Parts: sequence; C-alpha cells; structure tokens
Amino acid sequence: MPVYILGIESSCDDTSASVLRDNVLLSNIIANQQVHKDFGGVVPELASRAHQQNIIPVIDKALKSANISKTELSAIAFTRGPGLLGSLLVGTSFAKSFAMGLHIPIVEVNHLKAHILAHFVVQPGKKKKLPEFPFLCLTVSGGHTQIVVVKGFNEMQIIGQTIDDAAGEAFDKSAKMLGLEYPGGPFIDKYAKEGNPKAYTFAKTNVPDLNFSFSGLKTSILYFLRDRLKEDSGFIQKNLPDLCASIQSAIVNTLMVKLKMASQQTGINEIAIAGGVSANSGLRQAISDMQEAAGWKVHIPEFQFTTDNAAMIAVAGYYKFLDGDFADQSVTPYSRGGI
Ligand code: KG4
Ligand code: ZN
Repeated sequence: MPVYILGIESSCDDTSASVLRDNVLLSNIIANQQVHKDFGGVVPELASRAHQQNIIPVIDKALKSANISKTELSAIAFTRGPGLLGSLLVGTSFAKSFAMGLHIPIVEVNHLKAHILAHFVVQPGKKKKLPEFPFLCLTVSGGHTQIVVVKGFNEMQIIGQTIDDAAGEAFDKSAKMLGLEYPGGPFIDKYAKEGNPKAYTFAKTNVPDLNFSFSGLKTSILYFLRDRLKEDSGFIQKNLPDLCASIQSAIVNTLMVKLKMASQQTGINEIAIAGGVSANSGLRQAISDMQEAAGWKVHIPEFQFTTDNAAMIAVAGYYKFLDGDFADQSVTPYSRGGI
C-alpha cells in the first residue's frame, strides 16, 4: 500500500507544503514572503504572521495539485528546527492539529537533514541517479555551512562547519555592501556571470581542520570598498560584475578547498551539495569540474530543491515513517540544533 506524506516547511520566510507518494513527488507548493524586502533581511515577527496567513491556502493547493484528499494521508511531516521559533511554531502547531483531526501520526524533521535528503525526491517521468551511501554533502544555506558524512537516511555525521558566518550570509552581507537587494546571493550570481573572478582578491581566514570562517572575507570586502569609494563614489556601479565575480570566486574557493580535504580524509568521492547556496552557478560549475579532475561522482540538486521547500521535508519524513519514528503531540520546535 502506498504511503502518502504531507510535508510542511515554515522555518524561515517560505511557507511550503508538498505531497509525496512514497518517495515520489506529487506536489510542491512554495509561497515566498515579499514583506521582508524593504528591511534588508527577514523580520521574524512579520515572517510568523505571513506563515499564519499562507499556511492553509498553501496546504490546500498542495493537496489539490497532488489530486488526493486529506483523508488519504498516511502522516504529516513538519520542520521542527532549526529556524525562527515563531515561524516554526506555525508549521508545528498546524501539523499537530491537522494530524490529530485526521487521526494520523506526525513526523518531526530536522531542516538540515532534509536539505540533504532532497536528493532522494523522485519525480514522475524523470530519471536521475540517487546518491549511494556513504556520501559527503556540503550543505550551504543562509544559516548553515556544513560538511556531512551521510551514512544512511537517518545516520549523518557533521565533520566540518562554519565557526562564524554561513556561506549564504557571506553572499548576502557582501551583496548588502554592494547595495543589492536582500537576499543578495542570487544577484551576486547573476552579475558574476559578466565579470572577471580574478579582478580583485580578498583576504580569507584560514581555520584548521574541515571548518570554515567567512568573517575575515567580509571585513576584507568592507575595507576594500571603503577605500575605493573614498577615491571614486561610483566605484561599485562601474565595477559591479567584477566585484560580484571576485566575491563569488572567493566564497566558492573557500568551500571547495575544505570539500576536497574532506574527500581526501574520508576517502569518499561520492559528493553532493545542498541548501540555498547550492543554486549558485559558480559552485555548481566547480563541483561538476571535479568529476573530470578527481573522478568525483557528483550530485547537484535541481533548482527547485536547493532553497527551502517542503518536498525535502516530506521525503525526510517518509524515511522516518518507514522506521516508525513518530513524534507525539507534546513536541515543540527548536531554534538551534544540528544533525
Ligand atoms: O536554504 P535556504 O533557502 O534557506 C536557509 O535554510 O537558510 O538558503 C537561503 C540562502 C540565502 O543566503 C541566499 O542568498 C542563498 O541561499 N542563495 C544563493 C543563491 N540562491 C540562493 N547564494 C548564491 N547564489 C545563488 N544563486
Ligand atoms: Zn534551508
């Protein structure tokens, strides 16, 4: 008998719902919140209010486009954390009450594990090679940067992580310095395509082992821009593509150095990338170049599964469902907490 899972994601500023039949995608609906644009970042209070407004229409749409009735659902999977507490509370409370009304179990999902497991969402009519265990995953999002050894669906170990900013934050904060809209990562990517990645070099902080640091790069960009703007107030406008290409190259190189180290240390050459920053064209290119250069077997997610989405929550929920790993009604969200 097929398992129908409804996934709900509400950890930050996207309200998303998705329905899977086993690991096969039937729908994936995402409502982006536009209210934060004028503030240069996500405003937690506004995010939870927008989730409250969006959650019913988004779930309704996900069920309708999957062409199933709510009574056919086997379980509801929801993001328990990490994320913004007020945002997580909306998805968690909705999942608990909906499941209680339907007399079905709930499955709590870790958002970061879900980013990784997005690689296992199968789409009808589309063939793709699924990662084989064990593989390494570079998870790069707005809040996290991790290298994870993925030993099984529910068995993961973090072997490296950022000690300060996340890669997405490095993109977004640099973009802010350049006067670009929030979130600036996609804009840096866009302008970088027309620029020279070697135009400028920025200082990077070296941290030991497989950990990352992006705060030195941020400071280096800040001082560089301050000095150049003193000489020419139009410096950014005149050199935007070169600046974006150089910043992107610095961030991608930092990620790649540690990922190569991790592959050498663990002897694993099956490599995946996940999270919002895995949409970055520079990173996608650098990873795919490693297929030829080092014989890596690489897994690059489709764009719809890079940034926050509920299909990844549903698939992570599906594999916990198979293990009978259910949560009870007393479950509460957590704002921090890794894999
Ligand atoms: O995974 P995600 O949607 O949310 C979190 O869990 O944080 O990641 C959002 C992050 C933002 O920092 C955004 O700027 C970044 O992903 N991002 C990108 C690109 N698309 C999204 N960064 C660089 N290049 C992109 N194309
Ligand atoms: Zn995310």
